[in-house]
Amino acid sequence: MKELVNQMKVVLATNFSLYLKTHYFHWNIEGPNFPQYHEFLNNMYELFFEGVDIFAEEIRTLESYAPGSFSRYLELSKIEDELNVPTAQNMLKQLQTDNIRFIVEMKKANKMAEEENAVGLANILQDRIDKHYKYDWMLKATLKA
Ligand SMILES: [Fe+2]
Repeated sequence: MKELVNQMKVVLATNFSLYLKTHYFHWNIEGPNFPQYHEFLNNMYELFFEGVDIFAEEIRTLESYAPGSFSRYLELSKIEDELNVPTAQNMLKQLQTDNIRFIVEMKKANKMAEEENAVGLANILQDRIDKHYKYDWMLKATLKA
């Protein structure tokens, strides 16, 4: 159970980082397709943000405390911070890579939850994995030359 709790903290921190980077790109993206990109990233960060509260409360259900500070998220997150403003193409490529990285972490947690017979949590993770895969498709379709 300890392993599952620790992995859920990685999931939460990675989800928050991915959400924040997506919102950051929504603000700063530039180029001829600005209206579409801006709107696309808006929809994406809204969905990503939804996961943060869901996972934090699942950690509480597992009787642990949910991390919620930048320093702790920096330690736990599997996504690298972006300090600059990349090109639109680079932003989307980064989000596609980061989103897959996040899916990998959710899959690890999902496997642990199944092993622990935590059926409800495994179902929640599966649902979030599916939602993030949908964005993998949309990001790849947007990136296609
Ligand atoms: Fe906005």
